[in-house]
Amino acid sequence: MFVCPSQVRSACSGCSSCSSLCGQKGAKRDLSLTAAARQFAAPQMKPQVSGVVSSKLRNDMLEVKFGDGTEGRLPFVWLRDNCQCPQCFSVEALGRKLLMDDLDVEVQPTEVEETMDGLMVKWSDGHQSEYSTNWLQNRSFTPTSRALHRERYALRREPWGAEHTMKNFDYNTLMSDDRVLLDWLLTMERKGSAMVKNAPKKDVAGPELIEHIAFVKQSHYGPHSPVINRPNSNNVAFTNAKLGLHNDLPAYEHMPGIIFIQCLAQHPGAGGESIVTDGLFAAEELRRKRPEDFKILSSTDMYFWDKGHANYSWEMPEFYKIAKFPVIKVNGNNEVVQIAVSNTTRDSHMDLPPQEVKKYYAAYKRFYIILSANAMTFKMEQGDMMTLDNVRCLHGRESYDADSQRHIETSYLDWDEARCRRRRLQEKFGCFI
Ligand code: OGA
Ligand code: ZN
Ligand code: ZN
Repeated sequence: MFVCPSQVRSACSGCSSCSSLCGQKGAKRDLSLTAAARQFAAPQMKPQVSGVVSSKLRNDMLEVKFGDGTEGRLPFVWLRDNCQCPQCFSVEALGRKLLMDDLDVEVQPTEVEETMDGLMVKWSDGHQSEYSTNWLQNRSFTPTSRALHRERYALRREPWGAEHTMKNFDYNTLMSDDRVLLDWLLTMERKGSAMVKNAPKKDVAGPELIEHIAFVKQSHYGPHSPVINRPNSNNVAFTNAKLGLHNDLPAYEHMPGIIFIQCLAQHPGAGGESIVTDGLFAAEELRRKRPEDFKILSSTDMYFWDKGHANYSWEMPEFYKIAKFPVIKVNGNNEVVQIAVSNTTRDSHMDLPPQEVKKYYAAYKRFYIILSANAMTFKMEQGDMMTLDNVRCLHGRESYDADSQRHIETSYLDWDEARCRRRRLQEKFGCFI
């Protein structure tokens, strides 16, 4: 149930987090979702208005009409599976107790009654269920209810090109003000990028912020990595070499979700500049302009690998990772869900017939050209901490003098934890969908 606080509560008069979520203060917003939100805000204010006013059985579904005029078609098997009684569902654990063994896919209602607060259904298996109106309306299989839950799952991403400017956040405010933290979480989901300013000059500033949000995603490099020109370095990133556009750690099947790149000391002269691009924007551009290339890159698995030894006591003494996925990963709806680009860790092994290799490289190179053409270049200063969606945005850096005092620290947070915190903060501030 989406409730904009400015509509129903006096406690929040349109904070930046709520306003950017619900579209107040002129923020861009999907119109149909805003309309849906308003439509759904009404029953929350006056719960009695939208009880189930009528229901009829048709084609293995219960067709219901709610008091506010909206309608839903509820499949019998789904209703039975989601019975909310204590025998079928634990209200403490918020989990289904009903077993698949006990679910009859052909189950039919024998009696349906509209109650004060929803529906009562008696079933052909002898069971009896009750459902509240709000619960049913939230899950009524309408385009609106489905779109709202899609957004609860993950916010709609907004692709950007080279003209993008990252939104700035203050480190201490993020640590002390949950409304600002929510704004950062929303920004990260939508834009995949933000700049945190005034991070304290200590190598665990990233992990401390991450611990405030949830917990650090560790890797074989430990909880954080000094990015300096290391002797006997175990990764090209930990030298003074130029790094092409890349994600961190694509050699992990589940690569880190968000990367925190903190500048503790910048190289004073030319060198050490950051390069950042939106892989989602580039992938959509490729899909439009070179559909064949998109198909190759989204359907051909590549290997990424990372083999080495510890440079520091907190790193894994010996590591050897291999992961395999396409450079452009799409989901069942053909939406781009992950970009994996890294020249340093892309494997020399290719699981392809040799005659397909050059065609693959040509497609990959054209994608890389789009990524580069839409990249922005800037130089981080001491205290800056760039935060990037590591499965969407790619970053790189210019080379710098071998004896430079430049010092960057990297650490990671997974998307599961970031989205989890975003949902809880939305609930806390009453602006949850
Ligand atoms: C890295 C990296 C960025 C930088 O360590 O993976 O991208 O500016 N570092 O050094
Ligand atoms: Zn039940
Ligand atoms: Zn990197």
